[in-house]
Amino acid sequence: MTYKNYSLKQLQAIDAAHHLHPFTDHKELRQAGSRMIVRADGSYIYDSEGNEILDGMAGLWCVSVGYGRKELAEVAYEQMLELPYYNSFFKCATPTSVLLAKKLAEIAPENINQVFFGSSGSESNDTALRLVRHFWALEGKPNKNRIISRKNAYHGSTVAGVSLGGMELMHGQLGGAVPNIVHVMMPYAFEVAEPGESEEAFGLRAAKSVEDAILEAGADNVAAFIGEPIMGAGGVKIPPANYWKEIERICRKYDVLLMLDEVITGYGRTGSWFAAQTYGIKPDTITTAKALTSGYLPLSALLVGDRVAATLVEKGGEFFHGYTYAGHPVACAVGLRNIEIIEREGLVERVRTDTGPYFEQQLAERISGHPLVGETRAIGLMGAIEIVKDKDTRERFLPSGSAAVVVRDHAIANGMMLRATGDTMILSPPLIWTRETIDIACDRILKALDLALADLKG
Ligand SMILES: Cc1ncc(COP(=O)(O)O)c(C=O)c1O
Repeated sequence: MTYKNYSLKQLQAIDAAHHLHPFTDHKELRQAGSRMIVRADGSYIYDSEGNEILDGMAGLWCVSVGYGRKELAEVAYEQMLELPYYNSFFKCATPTSVLLAKKLAEIAPENINQVFFGSSGSESNDTALRLVRHFWALEGKPNKNRIISRKNAYHGSTVAGVSLGGMELMHGQLGGAVPNIVHVMMPYAFEVAEPGESEEAFGLRAAKSVEDAILEAGADNVAAFIGEPIMGAGGVKIPPANYWKEIERICRKYDVLLMLDEVITGYGRTGSWFAAQTYGIKPDTITTAKALTSGYLPLSALLVGDRVAATLVEKGGEFFHGYTYAGHPVACAVGLRNIEIIEREGLVERVRTDTGPYFEQQLAERISGHPLVGETRAIGLMGAIEIVKDKDTRERFLPSGSAAVVVRDHAIANGMMLRATGDTMILSPPLIWTRETIDIACDRILKALDLALADLKG
């Protein structure tokens, strides 16, 4: 590899001179310099200085089968030699995209049998937004086009993704969102529940905010509700157990489509193929990406329910939408093999019955008692640690988010990659983690918390 001819300092200088990073303060980055990740194996990443770091984030919520899977490289290589690219426009298709679509229909909730491919979660949410509005137009209800989403939701970084999302800082830089998208409260009891309010009562209240938004607009003007089953980038916010069933009931009552964004939760993370199955609901669309290929190649898939697909097919007429790389044959070949690996190794089952419950238990038993921790929570292999200044009052350190960065920096320096978002540490490890890996992670997180405590209270 040619990068080996460069020192870290040289690479950092080139990076600073030419490379604009996602979600980055470039002034700050140019002072600090990038950490160069140069290789990875299994659950570990390695930087240019030889540091080994346990990857508690599976890259960016995506490397579910872990790093270094030769068969994914081989299948990509073979497909590249045979057919590196062809599009799915103009009445064409490629075998791997067709077969992957079939496979996804098999593992999706039973009301879902169609797939629209893209290359990223953001792209597929654009597709989802356009498709549900197109659906209602085909149904003769073009005014039924309002989308209800939630505050603090993350649905990607394209204009439609940001508009669907509820992140204030992102909206602040948008200069005009896609019209007719509104945001209701998030179902996050730790921050939003009233004192003394039960989980159940809070879950119903959070769902009722969706009903209120439907009634305010008039059901004839509301196309869909969109939500991440578990808010990911917003801080792994797990809703009360009754929330999603109630949301589904409300959507059906007012004939509002239910769109799930499973870009993070899809493909096994919560212990089912999709969180829709974990919560026992049947959405009309499911956005997926990331773990579809374990991040080895960019690929996303919007899973489309029978009702929406039937109208699209029966009413006919061109849906003026699609991407050059939709159904990319190499990415689809990798996606197929990736799902085969997840099946062969029983990873979804393992998360549901073994590592998921153990992960939640270890966070609760070993981490939640730490003086800096207000709450731990997990579902499947997705977890969060709330950083607080005072465990009893839940007072946070100021400025907001600053303490979590201290914990994160100590964690990375001590061989543990996790992410800080606001005052929350988040974890989304590869699904190949075992109980032993979870133990190592907890050791390293505890060490980081102790070091951070000394810094913050010392
Ligand atoms: C729930 C959710 N939706 C959409 C996206 C956007 O995906 P991408 O970054 O592939 O565009 C993300 C990315 O993290 C996500 O977490």
